[in-house]
Amino acid sequence: MNPDVAWPIWSRERAQRVESALDRALPAADESPQPLHAAMRYAVLGSGKRVRALLAYAAGELAGADPGVVDHAAVAVELIHAYSLIHDDLPCMDDDVLRRGKPTCHVAHGEAMALLAGDALQTLAFEVLAKAPLPHTQTQARAQIALLATAAGSRGMAGGQALDLSHVGDALSLSELERMHALKTGALIQAALRLGAGCGRMLDRTESDALDRYAAAVGLGFQVVDDVLDVEGTAQSLGKTAGKDAMQGKPTYVSLLGLSPAKERVAELRDEAHTSLFAFGARARRLNELADWIALRKN
Ligand code: IPE
Ligand code: IPE
Ligand code: MG
Ligand code: MG
Ligand code: MG
Repeated sequence: MNPDVAWPIWSRERAQRVESALDRALPAADESPQPLHAAMRYAVLGSGKRVRALLAYAAGELAGADPGVVDHAAVAVELIHAYSLIHDDLPCMDDDVLRRGKPTCHVAHGEAMALLAGDALQTLAFEVLAKAPLPHTQTQARAQIALLATAAGSRGMAGGQALDLSHVGDALSLSELERMHALKTGALIQAALRLGAGCGRMLDRTESDALDRYAAAVGLGFQVVDDVLDVEGTAQSLGKTAGKDAMQGKPTYVSLLGLSPAKERVAELRDEAHTSLFAFGARARRLNELADWIALRKN
């Protein structure tokens, strides 16, 4: 399936929407302590594909949610994501100097401020979510906060990052690699989808299982494409250093299987994503378009 002509308009509009909401959620650059607030704004605003936010809005559409309500979920996941990138780039982790086409946060603002900016972005994400005017009971609102906490924590993104770091130089089995990818990248993508859908009418069990199958496929697919682009992309096209995974001995889809099988896996996962949404019909249009975009992206 190919994105329809309205897709670029929808995605641009939603990306601009979350950009403005992020701008409003972040403390002003001149608010004390300025060095910390400047580092936070530097890492979050101005670029980034906003894939997780788009997934939240698209899942919200599936559940008939008002985009004004989804804004909070979209902001919260983008803040967690930005924090994860700051820490991922630190010298003690991937030691990267380029992110989103500019020097990484620690290069521009110093390691201490980058570390604190990551910490503060993480807590801001939960503050935003806790203050969201969800059409929900208090119990449901609490469940949303718990969902994001689990996705970001040691059983989610942070756990996946720990596996990534502790397996440098190791040849992982395919299932170990997929588990690592599902945690470090898939968990937050699944949270974006669940949070977005949770802003609308309650999905029944069959529908939420279908959405989770979609999340698993696009979450893994997203990281496999990232692994492929690390080999095939350039610093110019990616806005981040290329060729780092091989240089650092990171276990990736490409190191384990090679480029062609990795690309075949991306195509399979894209099909799985579409198949899982079949029962939703036209309501899943944006999610289907996102699955295509995630598979075909060049940055
Ligand atoms: C990069 O994520 C880190 C991964 C999980 C692969 P993105 O490719 O979504 O980064 P931005 O937000 O567009 O910069
Ligand atoms: C990072 O994976 C995943 C995160 C949780 C941030 P990578 O280390 O492959 O991300 P890039 O390639 O630096 O964006
Ligand atoms: Mg990394
Ligand atoms: Mg990295
Ligand atoms: Mg990468």
